[in-house]
Amino acid sequence: MKVLVVDDEPSVRRLLQRYLGDNGYEVAIAGDGAEGWEAARDGSPDLILSDVAMPGMDGYELVRTVRRNPATAAIPVILLSAHRGSDDMVEGYRSGADDYVAKPVDMEVLRLKIDALIRRAQPEASAAAPALGRLTCVTSAKGGAGVTTIAANLAVLLGRRGGQTVCAVDLDVTHGDLQVLLDLRPRAGLGEAARDLSGGVETVTWDDYLVRHEGGPWLLAAPPTPLEASALSEAGVSQVLAGLRSSQDHLVVDVPPSYGELALTVYEGAERVVVVVSPEITALRRTRELLGALESLGVTEDRVLLVLNTLFEKTVLDRGRVEAFLRRPVNVVVPFGGRGFLEAVNSGRPVVTSQRGRAVDALTELAGLL
Ligand SMILES: Nc1ncnc2c1ncn2[C@@H]1O[C@H](COP(=O)(O)OP(=O)(O)O)[C@@H](O)[C@H]1O
Ligand SMILES: [Mg+2]
Repeated sequence: MKVLVVDDEPSVRRLLQRYLGDNGYEVAIAGDGAEGWEAARDGSPDLILSDVAMPGMDGYELVRTVRRNPATAAIPVILLSAHRGSDDMVEGYRSGADDYVAKPVDMEVLRLKIDALIRRAQPEASAAAPALGRLTCVTSAKGGAGVTTIAANLAVLLGRRGGQTVCAVDLDVTHGDLQVLLDLRPRAGLGEAARDLSGGVETVTWDDYLVRHEGGPWLLAAPPTPLEASALSEAGVSQVLAGLRSSQDHLVVDVPPSYGELALTVYEGAERVVVVVSPEITALRRTRELLGALESLGVTEDRVLLVLNTLFEKTVLDRGRVEAFLRRPVNVVVPFGGRGFLEAVNSGRPVVTSQRGRAVDALTELAGLL
């Protein structure tokens, strides 16, 4: 069990550190509120024990900051203060502290309080955080790479696996083609879900916004017209994604080329980012930039799956040259699909449901990596 002690007084820090350490706790130390907040955020302690009066960010402000942040909101906090006045206590509880202990501290009582709060927080914390579905994002650095085609086929393949719900999400809000590729006619979609969620509807029924593909994956479709798409806010869409993610086992999200806030949030939160690249020099150059951007966002290389999609019948840039240029391995090569791919689009039957061959094998191999 890890306790974070935040106090500007070195003697108090030493005392608490020794006592708690002797009683089997791992103890982290911070000398003021700001340092305390960093340690809380990065060190995920099981409990925070903080002084109230400190220079800069005081104890009340620290608790408010901890409570505001979803990652730290559930951590129990005990405030320690030299003031015994009821006003100080009220302010302490108001800020969101779980307990308020006056100095001088009775160490044995403090230890019992710490034990009780940690015990109470454990089951609550796991019940409060709903299990999140897997998020696979399919994207490219340049339009026309085959992102929507690959996302539609992956959703169908993953939807065939038993025991999990799969939902494709069309974030190409102005040109949402997923519904065409899957031959679906949604009555509602992303636009309605964002409107209802931001309008304060408490509990949304996700089925109202989704349409199902032949007993397999669901689809959250893009708005039907570009004008309706322009009314969407990125914050609204993020809210929809977060909500949907807690109700589905796996989301497959079609993210068109963008470095906007929304795209970056999706990349950061995704278990896997499938980057599709076609064998052409401008696409390769932009892909190198995208891979760099993902790296600086903290999306580690093992979370990125690079797919070389052979859009042309004949190409000079084969797998080896693409790998040399991008300085990383290509995970899957999708061969040129020609007429078959065109038929699939026109009939609304993704290739994995209607055809056989090397392209279908490659898409199946890719789904196996997710
Ligand atoms: N491997 C492939 N072989 C042949 N045509 C393909 C292949 N992948 C995609 N296409 C075609 O390329 C076009 C663009 O694909 P699309 O998925 O809409 O790209 P994006 O979503 O990246 O803009 C579509 O007509 C699609 O059928
Ligand atoms: Mg597309």
